[in-house]
Amino acid sequence: MSYPNYMLDLIKKVEATRPKRIAQVKKGENFASLSAEKGGELLRKFHPDYKEGTKRKLQLGKSKGSLVPNEVADIIEANPCIDLKNVNLEKIDYDVDVLVIGGGGAGSCAALVAQEQGAKVLIATKLRHGDANTIMAEGGIQAADKNQDSPGLHFLDTMGGGHFSNDPELLGVLVKEAPLAIEWLENLGVMFDKDNEGTMSTLHGGGTSRKRMHSAGDMTGAEIMRTLRDEIKNRPDIEVVEFAPAVELIVDDKGQCAGAALYNLETKQYSVVKAKTTVIATGGFGRLHIQGFPTTNHYGATADGLVLAYRVGCSLTFMDASQFHPTGVIYPEQNVGLLITEKVRGAGAQLANIDGEQFVYPLEPRDIESSAIIRECLERKKGVKTPTDRIGVWLDSVMIEILKGEGAIQRDFPAKYRQFMRHGIDISKQPMLVFPTLHYQNGGVKINADAGTEVPNLYVAGEASGGIHGRNRLMGNSLLDITVFGRRAGQEAAIKAKQAKIGKLSLEHVGKYRTNLQNSGIKTDRISPMLLPDYVGKIG
Ligand code: FUM
Repeated sequence: MSYPNYMLDLIKKVEATRPKRIAQVKKGENFASLSAEKGGELLRKFHPDYKEGTKRKLQLGKSKGSLVPNEVADIIEANPCIDLKNVNLEKIDYDVDVLVIGGGGAGSCAALVAQEQGAKVLIATKLRHGDANTIMAEGGIQAADKNQDSPGLHFLDTMGGGHFSNDPELLGVLVKEAPLAIEWLENLGVMFDKDNEGTMSTLHGGGTSRKRMHSAGDMTGAEIMRTLRDEIKNRPDIEVVEFAPAVELIVDDKGQCAGAALYNLETKQYSVVKAKTTVIATGGFGRLHIQGFPTTNHYGATADGLVLAYRVGCSLTFMDASQFHPTGVIYPEQNVGLLITEKVRGAGAQLANIDGEQFVYPLEPRDIESSAIIRECLERKKGVKTPTDRIGVWLDSVMIEILKGEGAIQRDFPAKYRQFMRHGIDISKQPMLVFPTLHYQNGGVKINADAGTEVPNLYVAGEASGGIHGRNRLMGNSLLDITVFGRRAGQEAAIKAKQAKIGKLSLEHVGKYRTNLQNSGIKTDRISPMLLPDYVGKIG
């Protein structure tokens, strides 16, 4: 399979405008970036977050009254899935200092640092250790560790990307600890891209004023996850239980978090973890397919951590802001929704419409870039239709090959190259067709600078938390977030565990939640946490 003939004809229009676009880039004549005012107008008109009827106010819990996507409200206002009669709190299956829920990047960082503090650690993960959005992250991790850059500039760029809504304290921690995070990862064994002198290579991402994106090809997350997982395997004080999602947190008679009930997906049995402190690192909500969008996320991204934390009394923040990555695959059909890293645009690729015309500066912050693509397709009718009636615009990857020399695509984007070659499309010779795809949960559980929550002994790190990125995260700040706040959560959880005294274990809040649902007049047969998207069970 390759592109169908009508698309091959349309690609000729991209080829026709390419020499002029290349010449402009070489002269430094970039397509103008939008002013804050124009960007704001574009967002309000075209960004899915602003679409009427797609959100509703929560009717119960700590964040009652706050707007969240309907799909999130559906799982928050759902019956707990736990079958209480099969959970025996008198029989403790695991008794640990620190329980980490989630086996992705944030959880793994937390576990490593907690163990270094002398804690006995259990990682409980829904799928296999490493099955998480971290392993799917492509483009890179930001850190201001070069001479021409500073954490202050990183702070300003990120604030701008988040429309000045980011929690300044959390963001301050993120940017200040970023250089240390890179050093820590490198010391663990992450093989970052380097130039011939051995200096780490850095690129621009959307919304950045300096090149601070560190990468490992277009598989940065996979490289980080490989390293973290290897390291954990070498530490006997960290136990990993796979296919055992937490389905409810356990609290004690003093209202402190005291562990979790796990549900083994294979044996269908519950186990009880008593923990002095608990870290939620369950990732985000991509598999809720907000507004029906396809997603870049892995199968387990069903926002379980939000549900668990909310039921025991945490607040949620920025849950009305979803991130749509501008460049998700829209053709071939088998790959719809998959990520095409922003690094492709950082390396010189431009977006072009059906007439081969560039219509947006390639490195706007993601929400603006996505809105410009949606406008081009839906209002200006300048998108390209696929044989299954999807619509997208061209991402002219061939420019990279011209600007950086033959072989650049295969060298710098080996994963993307192979992913498309499987379908007979050579992205060093032909552009890709793209449309925004659901990528990231900007908001999440409210945390403080130590990754602590409003519930004693409960910490949240990574995509499950909210506030750091405000209403729109910049590229490369997610791998950074999981490292910086994963480490912080692990450190704080281990220190707190040393003096924590856990009382009598209880799951009483589950019954109370059911009563609250009824008292709020919510009639639902939904259950949560969802654990896996509903279509998974229907396959085959
Ligand atoms: O475009 C990307 O490579 C995605 C990176 C990110 O979300 O940080």
